[in-house]
Amino acid sequence: MAPILDAACETLFEQWQAAARAGEVRNVLRDASALAQTVIFRGLFSRDVDDLDTRALGQALEVANDFIHRSAWSMVKLPDSIPTPSRVRFRRAMRTLDTIVYDLIAARRARSSEEGDLLGRLVAARDNETGACMTDEQVRDEVMTTFVAGHDTTAAALAWAFWIFANEPQALARLAGVDPDDAALGRTVQEVLRLYPPGWIMVRTPHRDDVVCGYEVPAGAPLLISPWVVHRSPTWWDEPERFDPDRFLPDRVAQRPKFAYFPYGGGARVCIGQGLADRILRHVIAGVASRYVLERGRNQVVVPEPKTTLQPRGGVRLRIRAR
Ligand code: HEM
Repeated sequence: MAPILDAACETLFEQWQAAARAGEVRNVLRDASALAQTVIFRGLFSRDVDDLDTRALGQALEVANDFIHRSAWSMVKLPDSIPTPSRVRFRRAMRTLDTIVYDLIAARRARSSEEGDLLGRLVAARDNETGACMTDEQVRDEVMTTFVAGHDTTAAALAWAFWIFANEPQALARLAGVDPDDAALGRTVQEVLRLYPPGWIMVRTPHRDDVVCGYEVPAGAPLLISPWVVHRSPTWWDEPERFDPDRFLPDRVAQRPKFAYFPYGGGARVCIGQGLADRILRHVIAGVASRYVLERGRNQVVVPEPKTTLQPRGGVRLRIRAR
């Protein structure tokens, strides 16, 4: 992934260089999305996906995500057969996604050479017992899951990091010149994800009746588990609203229970992309810290919006200055 990530950062920094020269205010959420999309899509498909596909995939995912979010929380459940305008848009977006993804799978199978990106590995994977490979539908499902789980979350995390740095310029300045493996940078990334966990809610459904901490939990009850709530609980965190990466110094981590902090979930369904997400965040933040100062407007507020992922409502508009 490293060359893909480097190239995506280079594109971002070229745009920001021009913005810094022009004194331009940019929507850095949009920039973060473009970068995350390029890295995730290209990482999955390497050279097979061009800029046109990247844009089309990104737009279709946005429509699909929005629809899923709204129908998941909606109090009114209309039968699937009613073609509301948002459903029509959703189905069109799904058709676009399917067309692009199935074409990519077919092209890859036709080449029959083994390639090391994720699509190559999915296509080449064999069942341990039967030796069968995955059907096109199975590969498609894996690809879609990775898209949906990977790009929005990473983009939101980056945008929240930029917003924090506009409020805490010293925190960014301290990272100027560090390399992506730096420990203080790692703690900064952890603290960003504590305050603004993109995966702000998870749902679990118990198979049988249970009692948890004295509460009766019937089988089938939807349990909502929120890192946002736990990460900001004064039970586990001193001054939980304050940005302080030193909370993640090893001796302080040792004093907290493991699940006081879980931006990537836990257990059997823990995020499989956390290594990649951490790499992207470290790489981009290290690059930004050495080059730029991010400035917010005097009375600017950014409101967290709990959509499928925790998004800054309306984006994050910041002025970019060269350091
Ligand atoms: C900062 C970025 C990210 C955050 C905060 C995040 C967060 C999460 C969380 C909280 C879960 C668990 C959901 C649950 O338990 O219901 C999850 C699952 C998952 N994530 Fe991530 N994620 C991030 C980036 C990524 C990336 C980059 C990828 C892939 C390229 C990815 C792929 C997945 C997949 C496939 C699952 C489902 C795993 C399973 O159910 O077995 N995520 N993620």
